[in-house]
Amino acid sequence: MGFDRSGRQFEPRAPQHHRMLHLPWMGRENAPYLWLIVLLNVGPFVPPVWSAFPDAHDPPSPGWTGTVFKLRQDYPSTRPAVGSMPWKAISFRTQPEAYLRAVLQYGLEGNVAVDWQLEQNTVRKWYHAPWMHSTSGGREFVHGLTKERSSRPRELHPNQPSFFQNWAVGIYNAPGGYVIGRVWKDPMVPNPGAARFPDGTVALKLLFTTATVAEVPYLQNAFTWQAHIHDATGTTRSIQTVRLLQVDVAVRDTRAASTTGWVFGTFVYDGNAPGATPWDRLVPVGAMWGNDPTVTQDAATAPSPLHQTWINPTLGPPQHLGRTGRLNGPVDNPKSSCLSCHSTAQYKAVSAPLPPANASTTEAMRWFRNIRATAPFDPGQVSLGYSLQLSVGIQRFLQANPAALANIPVPSSTRRTTHVSTARREDP
Ligand code: HEC
Repeated sequence: MGFDRSGRQFEPRAPQHHRMLHLPWMGRENAPYLWLIVLLNVGPFVPPVWSAFPDAHDPPSPGWTGTVFKLRQDYPSTRPAVGSMPWKAISFRTQPEAYLRAVLQYGLEGNVAVDWQLEQNTVRKWYHAPWMHSTSGGREFVHGLTKERSSRPRELHPNQPSFFQNWAVGIYNAPGGYVIGRVWKDPMVPNPGAARFPDGTVALKLLFTTATVAEVPYLQNAFTWQAHIHDATGTTRSIQTVRLLQVDVAVRDTRAASTTGWVFGTFVYDGNAPGATPWDRLVPVGAMWGNDPTVTQDAATAPSPLHQTWINPTLGPPQHLGRTGRLNGPVDNPKSSCLSCHSTAQYKAVSAPLPPANASTTEAMRWFRNIRATAPFDPGQVSLGYSLQLSVGIQRFLQANPAALANIPVPSSTRRTTHVSTARREDP
């Protein structure tokens, strides 16, 4: 069993094969295997390519002529140079807004111009994590979006009567891509111990919503995509318009070593903010580099007792923060925080991403420790370096390939735990 961002379990799927047959919509062109196909006389216009990981949950619908998502999986085989890190000139403690903006700018560079088709970015390389295609909310075929926690009525705006779906795609820069490639070097034997993200690793996540401008007016003139997402029933999918609501960033920064080693931040789209393009109208919500473990109260007070979270005091759209006002995004679970949930990224995923609904303060604070970037959440497990895409990916891989469990290299104490916790962590 695994957990998604809302803390809900996701359902197992039928086993899948070792290496996937890649149809043209899935993979790379110009592969040497083309010759093999010609020899096998499979047909001139169906050049299947073998590559380790599928791109999406479904092939493009018949007649679809738009963009088709390609999982960028040509991970660097040797440790790449980190390159320039503009945020390093800025302190996240004293200038958090400038720091976040420098990271966002770095993430947008070269990606906006090619509509986030990473393989076409000429400025720098970015990569996707594998095994996000399986399960019913797995990657859709247009932009590789995966289903996130839905927004409940009034969560995005006080006058919002409807539930809305949220769908997202996460990417890693080259230092991060190198680590993902090392963990997944053998596509049938992921190696959790290789999840050691170096200083300068950056991950970015674009979150889109089906919310309408009529119900959530600050989404006016938002950046939109077409995406192949769930219909109201949640069982079938169709092409629908989604609007960019939130952009998450995560930076591995040695200056945060005394807390977690990571700086997490988030932006929300504000259609009333100044700026020529929708990207310019993304407004920082806040940043966090630690969980403030000594702040045990659960209700936020003014002034904020937090020292390891910064919240933008001039924010326009209504915000939903986490426990005691720690940083969380508009689509996130209010009992959590960015670093709280991400600190549970480990193999095996013994603890749920959220504290139990009825947890005592002492129990709940287990989710608000400052866990070092290489330390696991539970003793005896292997840290996945705050990467929940690695965590979710490995869990989904094992659902589809249960026999692979025995091959995964782990410390001997871990091997004895044969299944992950099955407790449900529903929202209130
Ligand atoms: C309740 C759990 C939860 C909370 C809270 C949460 N996330 Fe995540 N996040 C996830 C999961 C699960 C994934 C992996 C699956 C996916 O990408 O949808 C993820 C993926 C990411 C990624 C892509 C890199 C990775 O770890 O795989 C980034 C960046 C990210 N989140 C940033 C944030 C930020 C910033 C916040 C706070 C504003 C936040 N997250 C809050 C669960 C959470």
